[in-house]
Amino acid sequence: MLRMVKALDITIVGAGNLGSALAMSLHQAGYAIREIVSRDRSPSLRRSQALARNTGAKAVEVSRATLHARVIWFCVPDREIASAATALADRVNWRGKIAFHSSGALSSNELSALKWRGASVASVHPLMTFVARSRPLLKRVPFALEGDGAAVRAARSVVRSLEGEAFSIAAKHKTAYHAWGTFTSPLLLSLFVTAEEVARLAGVPPTLARRRMLPILRQTLENYAKHGPVGAFSGPIIRGDTATVQKHLQVLRKNSGAFEVYSALARAALNNLPTQNRAALAKLLRGRDSKSASSG
Ligand SMILES: NC(=O)c1ccc[n+]([C@@H]2O[C@H](COP(=O)([O-])OP(=O)(O)OC[C@H]3O[C@@H](n4cnc5c(N)ncnc54)[C@H](OP(=O)(O)O)[C@@H]3O)[C@@H](O)[C@H]2O)c1
Repeated sequence: MLRMVKALDITIVGAGNLGSALAMSLHQAGYAIREIVSRDRSPSLRRSQALARNTGAKAVEVSRATLHARVIWFCVPDREIASAATALADRVNWRGKIAFHSSGALSSNELSALKWRGASVASVHPLMTFVARSRPLLKRVPFALEGDGAAVRAARSVVRSLEGEAFSIAAKHKTAYHAWGTFTSPLLLSLFVTAEEVARLAGVPPTLARRRMLPILRQTLENYAKHGPVGAFSGPIIRGDTATVQKHLQVLRKNSGAFEVYSALARAALNNLPTQNRAALAKLLRGRDSKSASSG
């Protein structure tokens, strides 16, 4: 099958979790990936070489990068974006070039060293999780865009080619946006491991707990998607079953971390979801919280 080659060519800086998945998807979507730029050290270069082999690109250390591509996409950790951009600022003429980074929390200002030299800059954040040994499809994945007009237009076109869904986010909203995103995967995982801890109290080891939890987790997600949070909500809080909640709190005193998570989520449920016996449940959760804090 003939692959349509896209007008924009791209260099990726950083062959980590996001950079690897993105480079592969961009390559498959028909973008020429020119260079995979790594730090000047051999383990970093080896990672870049592996990715370069799979994307038809050249693996280069920062000190050797030509940066000839029109788009330079920084896929480095948030704390490294500004310094990685500064390190490349005097290497080429940035006029007419486009620079992206993919931080959810930081704005395109992180790339100001390149903007001052004539680049058009944007933050381009996929609301998706990228970890080792998994490459999520980007189809229908939302991408939050923010930055200069030309860079945002280019980002929209790239996202369209990846079959993602671009949307605009104001720079002032990026921190809140990223806090929202943090609930959708990292903190959800934290909830899952807390649930595994509670399973231990029931004599079920974590690996078995994980396997036994998956059907209800999957069904909950499906119900949430189809019927929304109210339609998907079940359990002792919607039934207003204060005696059961009281017993939960008693047993959870054996694990103060799980107790705190349960109490915080139960209070959020009282605030945001339908329930019977709201006042009694609220009183129960308030009382138990202070006892937990004093029991240390
Ligand atoms: N992972 C996600 O789920 C996800 C989702 C959306 C957005 N993002 C964003 O994507 C960006 C990268 O995150 P990540 O999770 O992919 O991080 P990561 O897996 O830690 O990868 C970061 C990569 O950057 C390289 N690197 C670090 N400093 C560098 C520098 N100064 N110059 C060149 N390369 C450098 C690292 O290489 P070495 O350590 O090998 O030298 C590593 O390959 C972040 O802005 C993050 O907010 C991540």
